[in-house]
Amino acid sequence: MGVYDLAGRKALVTGGARGLGAGMAEALARAGASVVIADIQEELGRATADAIKQTGATAGFVRLDVTDDAAWEAAVAETVAELDGLDILVNNAGVEISGLAVDFDPAQLRTMLDVNVLGTALGIKHAFRAMRPGGAAGVGGAVVNIASVAATIAFPGIAGYSATKSAVDRLTRVAAMESGKLGYGVRVNCVYPGLVPTVMGNQLAQDVVDLGLFPSVEEAVGTVIALTPGGRLGEVSDMADAVVFLASDAARFITGAGLPVDGGMGM
Ligand SMILES: NC(=O)c1ccc[n+]([C@@H]2O[C@H](COP(=O)([O-])OP(=O)(O)OC[C@H]3O[C@@H](n4cnc5c(N)ncnc54)[C@H](O)[C@@H]3O)[C@@H](O)[C@H]2O)c1
Repeated sequence: MGVYDLAGRKALVTGGARGLGAGMAEALARAGASVVIADIQEELGRATADAIKQTGATAGFVRLDVTDDAAWEAAVAETVAELDGLDILVNNAGVEISGLAVDFDPAQLRTMLDVNVLGTALGIKHAFRAMRPGGAAGVGGAVVNIASVAATIAFPGIAGYSATKSAVDRLTRVAAMESGKLGYGVRVNCVYPGLVPTVMGNQLAQDVVDLGLFPSVEEAVGTVIALTPGGRLGEVSDMADAVVFLASDAARFITGAGLPVDGGMGM
């Protein structure tokens, strides 16, 4: 078995109904893992899980609002029961609401803090409880948090979102430190994706035009690409492959790290 092989591993991917999360779930399954998708979008989430099953992999769906502590406890228990363990958690669910600092809206900021920060924190909590020695799964594992290039650059129109993704970065580092110190056997890392034209990415490009920051979507996207040594936007598979790497034994001595997958934009 190669170090990138995930045969026999069991994974839970939040926000896996569509976009980057769906791609991550598919890539983990292709690498050999059994996967449960957790999302608030039930119909789409089940369809994505079914599509993975069609490839011969084991896949399931659980409804989970990542801001709900009790729902996390139930979703992790259900995943452990269904897959007979849990080795990998991808904290991917997230929301982005653009806006200028001069117009900060408390409700919008709270929504992003809830989903992006609280949701990730609760995921770490319940993964640790399940994966640490004596937990329901009990054999350690890997948590991969999805931050953003927004945590490493200053792009106009996304200050609130950027703050929540910087918080994901710090959650990652301190959680990794605690896992090591307390012997949980769980590596915790994060990825900083560059802009990918998913529903969220496309909306963001439109938002910064509507906010008067760029004359057109083409100009906004062109500015991002001009800032990117890799010379293009990100693709779902770019992010998914990085998650597979961090979840695998190839990353066995990597913890508390943040991996930019942004074509060099955030250097
Ligand atoms: N697309 C990009 O350009 C980009 C760049 C950097 C980082 N990211 C991050 O990657 C992750 C995925 O982004 P995406 O582009 O696929 O977004 P998306 O909007 O296409 O998909 C997000 C998924 O998360 C789910 N979700 C939202 N709130 C949830 C909640 N409370 N509980 C459970 N699930 C919930 C949605 O239903 C959806 O399926 C997010 O954390 C995002 O911040 C995206």
